[in-house]
Amino acid sequence: MSDQRVVVITGSGRGIGKGIAERLAKDGYAVVIADLDPKTAGETAQELVGKGFNAVSVAGDVSKKEDHEKFVNKAVEEFGRLDTYINNAGIAQIKLLQDVTPEDMERIFKINVFGDLYGIQAATEQFRRQDDGERIRKIINASSIAGHIAFDLLGAYSATKFAVRGLTQAAAKEVGRDHITVNAYCPGIVGTDMWDLIDAKMVELKGGETGQYLKQYAQSITLGRVETAEDVANYVSYLASPDSDYMTGQSVQIDGGIQFI
Ligand SMILES: NC(=O)c1ccc[n+]([C@@H]2O[C@H](COP(=O)([O-])OP(=O)(O)OC[C@H]3O[C@@H](n4cnc5c(N)ncnc54)[C@H](O)[C@@H]3O)[C@@H](O)[C@H]2O)c1
Repeated sequence: MSDQRVVVITGSGRGIGKGIAERLAKDGYAVVIADLDPKTAGETAQELVGKGFNAVSVAGDVSKKEDHEKFVNKAVEEFGRLDTYINNAGIAQIKLLQDVTPEDMERIFKINVFGDLYGIQAATEQFRRQDDGERIRKIINASSIAGHIAFDLLGAYSATKFAVRGLTQAAAKEVGRDHITVNAYCPGIVGTDMWDLIDAKMVELKGGETGQYLKQYAQSITLGRVETAEDVANYVSYLASPDSDYMTGQSVQIDGGIQFI
């Protein structure tokens, strides 16, 4: 069996997840691209294979517990083991809390929070099945700066990202003795499709022009530019590497200096 490290990354057909996949492939990982969209997942995996990396894709929905088991099984079938599981997939929702329906709340919690819980469970089960001795295995979750300080119009989303920090801390305490660490990355304003959607919805709700709100929010960034998927991936690379073996339960903001807490 190869001793190449193996990672599952949810929501990695595009955006931040894709950036993480590219970086971890360069770091030496075999990568399982797991996404709701089989087309982007397949294309991303093909791009990586075309560059000489080990990658496969698998379609599934993070809000379904059994799909996380499918993602883990894919890693084990294709590459023989699992070292790192990244709960990256998530959705945003732009609404005043007053207008959020029970269905809205249920949908965003099912993907952003239940999805991470199921990922933690599936990865932990696999890690416990593997005989890895003292080797540290890793679970990494996507929270957000909105998981530290809530944003208006992003109330439900912010609540899910606070919940991700809670899950990260509790899981870290529960699985530490199994040589598993659990940490989260908290990006700021990243120029992905998610922010295009946030901007478009804000224009719909408050008026103005396309791009106006991204620009407005970007003015709060100390380093003076919108974050890229690569900026996030640089930090996730550390979390996925042995250099972070002594770190667990942390949710660190990587945001170009928007919030100082
Ligand atoms: N973009 C930002 O500014 C920003 C900031 C902070 C945190 N985040 C978080 O980072 C993560 C990635 O964000 P992004 O900007 O790349 O988003 P994105 O919308 O560009 O990409 C999300 C990916 O997740 C997939 N996905 C969505 N629902 C899914 C489901 N139910 N099951 C499986 N896959 C699903 C999509 O198909 C897509 O490929 C999210 O958790 C998000 O909340 C993003």
